[in-house]
Amino acid sequence: MKILVTGGAGFIGSNFVHHLIEHTDHDVTVLDVLTYAGNRASLDGLPEDRFRFVRGDIVDAQLVDRLFADHDAVVHYAAESHNDNSLEDPRPFLDTNIIGTYTLLEAARRHGTRYHHISTDEVYGDLELDDPARFTEQTPYNPSSPYSSTKAGSDLLVRAWVRSFGVQATISNCSNNYGPYQHVEKFIPRQITNVLRGERPKLYGTGENVRDWIHADDHSSAVLAILERGEIGETYLIGADGERNNKDVVELILTQLGQPSDAYDHVKDRPGHDMRYAIDSTKLRTELGWAPRYSDFEAGLAATIDWYRENEAWWAPQKDATEARYTAQGQ
Ligand code: NAD
Ligand code: DAU
Repeated sequence: MKILVTGGAGFIGSNFVHHLIEHTDHDVTVLDVLTYAGNRASLDGLPEDRFRFVRGDIVDAQLVDRLFADHDAVVHYAAESHNDNSLEDPRPFLDTNIIGTYTLLEAARRHGTRYHHISTDEVYGDLELDDPARFTEQTPYNPSSPYSSTKAGSDLLVRAWVRSFGVQATISNCSNNYGPYQHVEKFIPRQITNVLRGERPKLYGTGENVRDWIHADDHSSAVLAILERGEIGETYLIGADGERNNKDVVELILTQLGQPSDAYDHVKDRPGHDMRYAIDSTKLRTELGWAPRYSDFEAGLAATIDWYRENEAWWAPQKDATEARYTAQGQ
């Protein structure tokens, strides 16, 4: 197959491209406009006979149409992905997440292309800390932030294009990813790279907020399973039973880097900060036979710390500008 991966120069998209090249014999094209979050270097070293990079915008209907005509399947990762940025300036989230998705769906409709839509557990809103419930495919949508509301809107477009136009689409909603190639604006890489630079980690509010961590390579294997065996029109939740609160994660990073576990600062909380996400991935596991490979979060985190230690040239150019933005926001 020839697979088009949008946003393949970003964190999870680039992990998926490496996964495809390593575990399948598909040919891969990446379509990525290279925003501040995209990094061409995340795709270095891929075989030229199986991999092609196209720099372009998913809202460019003519370019998208040409690429769809030439591919068997599309996996759509491209997005504005950071909640804090969406609170500062929501507009790019509407353009890319809503109009961009619409542009791809129209091309999928014209060409009958198999389309997989990457989404997030944040479309379901948040859970209380003491609530035994987890999100399932039946949980009603209730997004909190400009980011998550545009992702929810894009999911609903996909559902409508399946029902109204027969587009051959599936959707997955995954929990928080960690692993190599994640931008230093995000929680885990920000704290690792702070400590590596001799600066203190920054915890929003009390740090009681819970995220359900999954390694990016496990997300990739789940998406591949859905692409190969998923039922058209269905939604699959992806998660690896990795619930941890932010305070525990910061303390673990400090300990793994040989620092005192209390050597961090509390900073201003995120407005509207979701308290807890938790995924029930029973459907994916039972219907498609998927299981995560990284069941030990501490080992996965240690490998991720090693990656950032060994790849300072990849992240250092982004670090100062990212911290300057946070400082301006009091975070
Ligand atoms: P990221 O910000 O690291 O990467 C996004 C990529 O999309 C970048 O390479 C960027 O250049 C590209 N892009 C942005 N706008 C574009 C446009 N208009 N046209 C073409 N390319 C464009 O994001 P990520 O963390 O890798 O997230 C990827 C996808 O996975 C997103 O759809 C996100 O909602 C979803 N997701 C992320 C997580 C997570 O934990 N990070 C969890 C679940 C789902
Ligand atoms: O749940 C999936 C979502 O996970 C994805 O849809 C998003 O694209 C992705 O960015 C992520 O969203 P979060 O807002 O959960 O991730 P972030 O890395 O920004 O923050 C994780 C938690 O850590 C959150 O509770 C806020 C907190 N935090 C974050 C930063 C950057 C801190 O305490 N300190 C920080 O410096």
